[in-house]
Amino acid sequence: MAEAERDLQGWDPADRIILALDRGDAEQALALAAAVPDLRWVKVGLELFTAAGPAVVRELRRRGLRVFLDLKFHDIPTTMAGACRSAARLGAELITVHACAGGEALAAAQAAAVEGAAAEGLSAPTLLAVTVLTSWDAARFRQELAIPTPLDDHAAALAALAAAAGLTGAVCSPQEVARLRAAHPRPFTLVTPGIRPAGSEAADQKRVMTPAQALAAGASHLVIGRPISAAADPAAAFAACCAELG
Ligand code: C5P
Repeated sequence: MAEAERDLQGWDPADRIILALDRGDAEQALALAAAVPDLRWVKVGLELFTAAGPAVVRELRRRGLRVFLDLKFHDIPTTMAGACRSAARLGAELITVHACAGGEALAAAQAAAVEGAAAEGLSAPTLLAVTVLTSWDAARFRQELAIPTPLDDHAAALAALAAAAGLTGAVCSPQEVARLRAAHPRPFTLVTPGIRPAGSEAADQKRVMTPAQALAAGASHLVIGRPISAAADPAAAFAACCAELG
C-alpha cells in the first residue's frame, strides 16, 4: 500500500478511474459520459469504435475527456506502426497492442505513436501491451495454442518483451498486477480491468479486486464498466469509487 499511497500524493482519484464505454453506439456512449460530470478518462473498445469510428473519439476529446483506445492491435510491423500513428494523431493517450506481435512490431508501433502525436502537437501516448487475454484458462491455452510455458510465466515474458521493445505500459488482470509491478517499477503504467467496488455485482468477471486493492497491488489506472455504467446513478457510483481511493 505504501508505494501506491506515495504515488497517489498530488493525484486526484478521478485521474485513476477509466470508465469503459461498452455501449454499442455513439449516442449512448456520449450520454453515459455526460452523466458523470467529474469523469476524466474513458475507454473506447472494439464494439463502440467499430460502430461509431474515430468521430466518437474526437467528440469525447472535444468534451475534455482523455481517451484509452482499446483496439488491441496485432499485425505485421508496418501495419501496427500505421495503426498506432493514426490512433496517436486522434489524440488517444492510452492505446493497446498485442505483445505477441513481436519485438520488431512493438518497437515500430512505439516509434510511430510518438511521431503521430508529435505531428499533431500532442504528448506521446502510452502504448499498453496486452499479454495473455484473461478469457484463456491454463489447460485450453496449452492445448489449443500448443504453448508449454505456464500461462502466467508466458504473460510475464510477453510483458518483458514489450518493455524491452520500448513500451512503457501493459494491461493486466488484478491477479497479475503485483507480479508485473515487481518486474516493471513505476512510472511503467499498469491498467487493470476486473474491478468491483465492495458490494457490487461481479457479473461475468470471475477474479475481481476492489479499486483500493488493485491500486495497492500496483495498478496505475483502473478500468471500471458496469459498476458505474449500469448503476441507477452513474455519477454517484463514480464518486463512491473515487471516495474509496481518496
Ligand atoms: O463492466 P466491467 O467493469 O466488467 O468492464 C470492464 C471492461 O474491461 C470491459 O470493457 C471489458 O471488455 C474490459 N476488459 C476486461 N478484462 C480484460 C480485458 C478487458 O474486463 N482482461
